[in-house]
Amino acid sequence: MGNLDGPQPGGFHFSLVRKANFCYKNLEKRSGDYSVMGIKEFLGIKARPQLDRILQGPRVKVRKFSREDLDKRSKWLPYEDPLYRHHNIYLPTTGMLDYWYKTWVNGRGRISFAIDDEADRMMGQISLREIDWRGGVARLGISLASDAVGKGYGTEALRVFLRYYFGEMGFKRMVLDVAQFNRRAIRCYEKLGFTVTRDFLRENTFGVRLTGNTRFRNIRRFFVIDQDCEWIKYLDMELTREKFLQDEARTREKEDAEGS
Ligand SMILES: CC(C)(COP(=O)(O)OP(=O)(O)OC[C@H]1O[C@@H](n2cnc3c(N)ncnc32)[C@H](O)[C@@H]1OP(=O)(O)O)[C@@H](O)C(=O)NCCC(=O)NCCS
Repeated sequence: MGNLDGPQPGGFHFSLVRKANFCYKNLEKRSGDYSVMGIKEFLGIKARPQLDRILQGPRVKVRKFSREDLDKRSKWLPYEDPLYRHHNIYLPTTGMLDYWYKTWVNGRGRISFAIDDEADRMMGQISLREIDWRGGVARLGISLASDAVGKGYGTEALRVFLRYYFGEMGFKRMVLDVAQFNRRAIRCYEKLGFTVTRDFLRENTFGVRLTGNTRFRNIRRFFVIDQDCEWIKYLDMELTREKFLQDEARTREKEDAEGS
């Protein structure tokens, strides 16, 4: 008796390969030249959009994040405030930078974008993680260099990026989580139309005890103490494509009315 393991003539695997080969060989005549149906097209897998151009804002540019950008980011002036130390990158060797780039920048379900200012200084990174292409949703992360915050660059870069995200990239929703003490970030997200969907607690991982520290007295209301454990209050926020496009249209109408 012959070997019954593996693909059998007429079985799913066999017919799929035969069909793929047929499609690949089948030249389709289009406006005078010939194109070949790719295997991805045949299987119905949509090509993921690649940002191969620069998104221009009034002052900032947003573009694909490269390995050299990671070198630049590792040289940013660090945040001294322990509550923002998560945004510092301490990667002293090329090997560590390579690993970080492969895993955290370009890892599975992740894409990153660089933000340049008017002087073409790379001073910000926008990242998407937990990308769900089928569900049309991803989680946002954004970090500006410590000396670039509070100048409107973050809000401007995100606005430019959101047009691309909900447009060419085809996403339907963006989600993010933010510490409640981070009033600047929350204000930035609110201005772009994000709304709160949930509040929750996350254990203090800032490497500094907040309780009893006078430095953190003004943000006391944003953390809770349960026995010996400190918990930071967080928010989940989201923005839908409909909401973003509606807000954009309203802003344009307002600008037109003011201009006329
Ligand atoms: C969050 C971040 C991207 C915002 O970008 P930004 O360019 O610094 O923000 P903007 O200058 O556009 O300011 C946004 C709003 O916050 C306000 N704001 C600025 N500093 C503030 C502060 N210390 N407290 C409260 N509001 C503040 C601004 O006035 C502005 O609101 P307005 O236009 O109504 O006046 C940027 O600050 C950043 O990267 N911070 C460090 C990393 C971080 O927190 N990432 C987000 C993690 S969820």
